[in-house]
Amino acid sequence: MPIKFNDVSFTYSPKTPFQYEALHHINVEIKDGSFTAIVGHTGSGKSTLIQHINGLLLPSAGSIEVDGMKIVAKEKVKHIKKFRKHAGLVFQFPEYQLFEESVEKDVAFGPRNFGDDEKEAVRKAHVALKRVGIDEALFKRSPFELSGGQRRRVAIAGIIAMEPAILVLDEPTAGLDPRGASEMMTLFEDIHKSGTTIVLVTHDMNIVLRYATEVIVMKDGTIVKVTDPMSLFEGDYEDYNLEIPNLYHFAKLLQTGGYKFDMRNIKTIEDIVSVIKEGYVNG
Ligand SMILES: Nc1ncnc2c1ncn2[C@@H]1O[C@H](COP(=O)(O)OP(=O)(O)OP(=O)(O)O)[C@@H](O)[C@H]1O
Ligand SMILES: [Mg+2]
Repeated sequence: MPIKFNDVSFTYSPKTPFQYEALHHINVEIKDGSFTAIVGHTGSGKSTLIQHINGLLLPSAGSIEVDGMKIVAKEKVKHIKKFRKHAGLVFQFPEYQLFEESVEKDVAFGPRNFGDDEKEAVRKAHVALKRVGIDEALFKRSPFELSGGQRRRVAIAGIIAMEPAILVLDEPTAGLDPRGASEMMTLFEDIHKSGTTIVLVTHDMNIVLRYATEVIVMKDGTIVKVTDPMSLFEGDYEDYNLEIPNLYHFAKLLQTGGYKFDMRNIKTIEDIVSVIKEGYVNG
């Protein structure tokens, strides 16, 4: 079952001098099993939007349905804990939210909070920590003794350990070194392949091209486009001040230079290499 926003508006600090409507009448459906990228200018409402998916923010108007569970503005929320477990949310800069005395305890917190006994919670924590590439030697350390990148991994492990059906990620690779970023994206790709719906906010169009199956473009608290990456970069991406992915640009230049191939097959550097090789062989 998909994620559905039905005419959702959201106002920060209502009835105060700081009142601000950050989302206006959002109607959108995020497909089950998709890898959906959310893009748009800074301040366009991306983080606000995704925080509705796990009930962290509640709509001021309209309703949201997630896999059959519904939250309606101004109505009492019935199953908020189920909502939270169902969709795991990794914040922008999640490393600032670690709080337990050890890495292992921090990651085990979620599973324990959702009803696992100590042993099972720790087991899930270990699996998640290994998946994000944290060495066992660090499990008993304080999160505050780790590097920024390691802390980010621990924070992400904390969400993965809860085994959510939907994984929501707010710029998870921002500020990581290129290798760390690509390892992280490979992990999310694996999680997606195992059947988890991924919703990812990013400013990086190379990531959109490589991983996303759908793209939602936001502007000034509204959704201005719902499409797939290839159609976006073939079409009016410039109208939304989005960059063209380097790889895509390069592939286009090859086509202009006479190489013949289907742009839809171009997602990685390896894909470009095969195109060039084929062109070379075919003279
Ligand atoms: N806690 C808050 N109180 C009041 N206004 C807020 C709050 N958080 C965000 N806003 C405002 O709501 C709008 C949308 O913010 P949001 O954080 O959702 O944008 P974003 O698209 O995630 O931006 P970025 O790409 O910079 O992360 C912005 O104008 C922002 O200033
Ligand atoms: Mg944001």
